[in-house]
Amino acid sequence: MGSIQKKPHALCFPAPAQGHINPMLKVAKILHSKGFHITFVNTEFNHQRLVKYQGSDALHGLPSFCFETIPDGLPPPQNPDETQVFPILWKSMDETCLGPFKSLLTKLNASSSPVTCIVADLFMGFTLDAAKELDIPEIVLWTSGVGALMCVHEQNNLLERGLVPREANEHLDTRIDCVPTMSGMRLKHLPSFVRKTSPGDEYMLEGLCLQAERAKRASAIMFNTFYELESDLLDALSSVFPPCYGVGPFKLLEKESDESVEFIKSNLWKEENTCLKWLESKPKSSVIYVNFGSTTVMSHQYILEFCWGLAKSNCPFLWIIRPDLVDGKSAVLPPEFLEEISSRGLLANWCPQEQVLNHPSIGGFLTHSGWNSTIESISSGVPMICWPFFADQLTNCWSCCNKWEIGMELDSDVKREEVSKLVIELMNGDKGKEMRKNAIDLKKKAEKACTSPSGSSIVNLGKVIDHLLQGSP
Ligand code: UDX
Repeated sequence: MGSIQKKPHALCFPAPAQGHINPMLKVAKILHSKGFHITFVNTEFNHQRLVKYQGSDALHGLPSFCFETIPDGLPPPQNPDETQVFPILWKSMDETCLGPFKSLLTKLNASSSPVTCIVADLFMGFTLDAAKELDIPEIVLWTSGVGALMCVHEQNNLLERGLVPREANEHLDTRIDCVPTMSGMRLKHLPSFVRKTSPGDEYMLEGLCLQAERAKRASAIMFNTFYELESDLLDALSSVFPPCYGVGPFKLLEKESDESVEFIKSNLWKEENTCLKWLESKPKSSVIYVNFGSTTVMSHQYILEFCWGLAKSNCPFLWIIRPDLVDGKSAVLPPEFLEEISSRGLLANWCPQEQVLNHPSIGGFLTHSGWNSTIESISSGVPMICWPFFADQLTNCWSCCNKWEIGMELDSDVKREEVSKLVIELMNGDKGKEMRKNAIDLKKKAEKACTSPSGSSIVNLGKVIDHLLQGSP
């Protein structure tokens, strides 16, 4: 009789922010469905927020899917719901987490199921040192679009040509043709940290370049995208990095995964499901969904522009206003606005976004162009109005509006007239129709990549798993 084969054990370690934890949890669930034992590592601070909103049962429910924590090295914020400042948090983790991370590995390796491989966010590059010491494979996850990583890789080229650094509003429309596969992009579409528009960007860019260099030691890099969407970029980056695999949209692959882990969620805010019921009462493709993600912070004036722009469009809308969306405080909306929109608008703090985007009543998405929102919108065949806030969102916006023609860009200095004009065009105009058609075409391609046996994401998932199994006895 042969010996009983032990399960491979993957340790999954996201960067400590909503837009990173969500895709990593999906990767973990997909690997679990393929027979991996999972340990999912959060910072203590985020773990407490997850417990608060998901309940501890949801995080300790399965022997084959466990949660662990490590400290982020910062004093606990006064507000337990605070959105931590990412560059500060990241710097702290990079400087302090290798020790606690190794101790965690030692603890796990003393159990009956030692860790056989690591999947970590590219921002968590210190994990590669631990993987090397243990001689186990590590796959790095880049949670944004591939274009943003290409811009990081090309930053020396941009520097030599004098295109960066730039003041925030300097020469925004200058054409950039030197980034491979992204010809025609404007200066304003480079990730903000590549343009170095604010003091924190200096650290972000230096740090990212260092992590990108470290990622060259990984077995492979995986992306929440599919080959047909970004083939040119994936091919170009595979020649300078380890193999770059599009294994997404993760949501569509996760659909195929086992139901035993469905109850595990990753919201850092309390989800309000009532909007799904409200959407039931609306006609097909009639509602514009408005959500600026987990990190955007805007001025009170901009909130007013969005309020009156949405009101003026006369279009039904679902608008998610995160409790700290307006300069870190609760938004105060004008009573006249609330009265005017009461019959056709719904406001909430946080929603089940993927379910909302998949609802037949949704006809468009006014978004900040975070990569998760972008790929989730593509997976649902929903066209977008893009109002990027910072970082990679600017590059994602360019791809949506210029490469895939599924989005319209809203000027960063937002004005109510422009908001209503674009909402009307997206929901009822000819351009909106064309973009919806393009978005539905992409959705079909994404589904094929994730469900047909020879689909690109299915095949790439197989390759990722082969890399991860190199560490199994
Ligand atoms: C940021 C960057 O902009 C993004 O590109 C990067 O890859 C990760 O960090 P964030 O502001 O969080 O992301 O936006 P986004 O990438 O869109 O992620 C937000 C996530 O939260 C999505 O998965 C979305 O479905 C979820 N969400 C958001 C909800 O579930 N409900 C909400 O109400 C809002």
